[in-house]
This record gives sequence, C-alpha cells and structure tokens, in this order.
Amino acid sequence: MVETPRVRTRTADPPPLTPAFSERVRDCFSGAANQYEGGARIQRAIAWRLGHLCRPLAIGPGPKGDLGAGTGLLARSIALQRPDLNLLRLDNCQALLETEPAAAGANARLLWDLNGGLPAQLAGASLLASSFALQWLEQPQLQLDQWASQLARGGWLVLAVPCSASFQQWRQAAERARVPFTGLALPAASGLVQAAERQLQLLRCQRLRFSRRQPQALAFLREFKAIGAQASPKGQLSPAELRRLQTHWAPRAGECPLEWEVLLLLARKP
Ligand SMILES: C[S@@+](CC[C@H](N)C(=O)[O-])C[C@H]1O[C@@H](n2cnc3c(N)ncnc32)[C@H](O)[C@@H]1O
Repeated sequence: MVETPRVRTRTADPPPLTPAFSERVRDCFSGAANQYEGGARIQRAIAWRLGHLCRPLAIGPGPKGDLGAGTGLLARSIALQRPDLNLLRLDNCQALLETEPAAAGANARLLWDLNGGLPAQLAGASLLASSFALQWLEQPQLQLDQWASQLARGGWLVLAVPCSASFQQWRQAAERARVPFTGLALPAASGLVQAAERQLQLLRCQRLRFSRRQPQALAFLREFKAIGAQASPKGQLSPAELRRLQTHWAPRAGECPLEWEVLLLLARKP
C-alpha cells in the first residue's frame, strides 16, 4: 500500500443515510465479525497511526471513548502506545464488540447507536477517538459537531474517516460499464473539517491517499464483503452487471489503482 501526497477535491456531501440502511450496515458487519480483523488492513494501519498520535498528548481524567470501535483495533492500538488510556468501546454491532473476550475490569464496551449522539457516560470527555466509523452514520457532519460539543475543555478528538475522493477509479469503471456505483457515498473532507473547526483547534489535519492495484473488480468487492463493509444504499449488482463492471474495470491490464482518501484529524477543544 502506497501513501501519496494529499489531493484537494471539492465534492458535495451525499444525501443523509436512512435508519433502514443503518440496520443493513449493522447486519453486514455482524455477518463478518469473525473475519473482520483478518481483512481490515487499512483500518489496522490507521489505528496504529492514530494511537501514535495519542502518545505525547496531555489527556485529562474525564471519560474516553472509541466511537464505532468494532473489534477494538483503535482502542487496543491506543492502549498499546499509551497504557494509561483505557477507552470505552461503543458500537451498535454486538457481534463485533464481542469478538474479543473482555478482560476483567478493562475494555468496557457499550452497545450504542451513534446515530442518536453520544451516551451520558461520555459527557465532558477528555478523549474521543474514532476510525473508519463516522462515514457509516446517517449525518456525519452533524454527529461530528455533537462529538465536539461533548468534549471537555482541553479534551481531544482523534479521528480518521474515509472521504469522497476515494474510489474514483471504481466510479469511472461503473460509468463505463453503465452499472450503478455501489460504494458508500462518503462525506466530503472539506465539510468535516469545517464542522470540526467550528468548535475545535485543529493541530493536525491531513488528507492521506492510499492506493493499491486491484486488477479484478470481483476480488475487490469480495474484500469489502469479507469485512462486512459491503452495505450500499444502491443495493447489489446483478451477476450480469458484475460481469460488465469487470469488463470495464481495468482498460489496460492491471491498471486500476484503487485509492482511499482518508481524513485524519487531531484536534483540541480550547
Ligand atoms: C469499518 S468498521 C471500523 C471499526 C473500527 N473503528 C476499526 O477501525 O477497525 C465501522 C464500524 O462502525 C460501526 N458502526 C456503523 N454504524 C454505527 C452506528 N450507527 N452506531 C455505532 N457504530 C456504528 C460498525 O458496526 C463498525 O464497527
């Protein structure tokens, strides 16, 4: 996986997702809970990077949470690099939360739908961390705004979220094949940055680009499915549509680098 310099893209925010879609998201993640960590390579790398960012931070005694924690990749990465930080893991997918047996007294977990905001336990939080989860919420900007409100003065937000400049090649292949683009409509990085800036001081704001060659459309879509991230408001492609997508995937053999744009924020409430 190659990281390339940041690229600016102006893209409008997608329309809000619906509660019915959120249930579908939960069911998909639930079905893949046992394989999630085996396939979540980019999520693991980002979790490590976010944990690293937490190392030098002066973090107060208030509540701390990993929002959309899943199997706990981020909470564990932070705990490994900052053993004094034990984050409450929130997620609305029980199967993911339960993949790791709870050690006595540690790694508290809460089954919680983040579309309804944050629970009372996290009021006045000193650290809110989240990786690859905000994009699944019905209104990412609004939720980010509320996360910022819940931080105590001096509290930290550590966030990574894939954004709308991701997967241009997939979009182009779908257009050429005249099939729907069935990826999630990801939020625009610019809107999230603006939402964060309204209440927080940004100490780091990066748009990371990760790319990887993937000559097979089907193999790529299977990778999403393997970690339960295949839910799409546009539904699934039929076998005939999939064949068409494959035909138009890589016009020249092997030339379809798939790119993620990942917004990484480290911010503090003044
Ligand atoms: C791609 S996974 C990322 C998990 C983890 N943060 C990581 O980096 O491995 C997305 C996570 O968001 C969670 N999620 C999606 N919608 C949610 C919601 N409405 N409330 C709480 N969690 C949600 C999913 O269950 C899943 O655990």
